[in-house]
Amino acid sequence: MNKISEILYNTSILPVVTIDDELNAVPVAESLIEGGINIIEIAFRSDAAAGSIKRVKSNFPNMIIGAGTVKTPGQMELALKNGADFVVSPHLDSNLIKHAKKLNSLCIPGIQTATEIEMAEELGLKIVKFFPAAYAGGTNMIKAWGSVFPNVKFIPTGGITLDTMNKYLQLDNVLCVGGSWIASEALINNKSFIDIKENASEAINKKNNLHTVNV
Ligand code: 3PG
Repeated sequence: MNKISEILYNTSILPVVTIDDELNAVPVAESLIEGGINIIEIAFRSDAAAGSIKRVKSNFPNMIIGAGTVKTPGQMELALKNGADFVVSPHLDSNLIKHAKKLNSLCIPGIQTATEIEMAEELGLKIVKFFPAAYAGGTNMIKAWGSVFPNVKFIPTGGITLDTMNKYLQLDNVLCVGGSWIASEALINNKSFIDIKENASEAINKKNNLHTVNV
């Protein structure tokens, strides 16, 4: 396992956050860290994404930061320049993946079909995001892919909650689960940082530590 897949696996949970005001970035990251989660995916769904990445990286250099919802090489470069450790896209785009390789960076593409998983493997990837997991087949889909793509690990994201996360984490081809429930946009905009910390520690306490995958 490399450092990023190791922390994804060990944490089991990847909070996906949309930050509208970059002044909220540091308190959000701090709440996650205090709740036991030292990894965050900051989505490029607001103009504050790059600035938020920069603030989190300079305040918490050991926190692993993913840039989410990255759809263009320009966004990828902006994210990496500001301190992102890896990028996540909602879809599979071979140009984006090749661009990440050129920049010596990890890109985790979103997939929904066997064809896309195969394409990701051909591009040299072993980790993909299954998005939106809960609406596109959930755990049954991931189980079915297991025997066909034994070398691929999945990060199911989309519609996952505290109540459903362990159904995913008990599958041996699931690296971790992603989701916005820990630090939703509403919680962030309301500055409900204590709730974010509680959601993080609740998820960490509930996660199924029995999932054993090798990357
Ligand atoms: C993402 O970008 O990964 C998703 O929007 C997160 O999905 P969720 O909001 O349903 O958790």
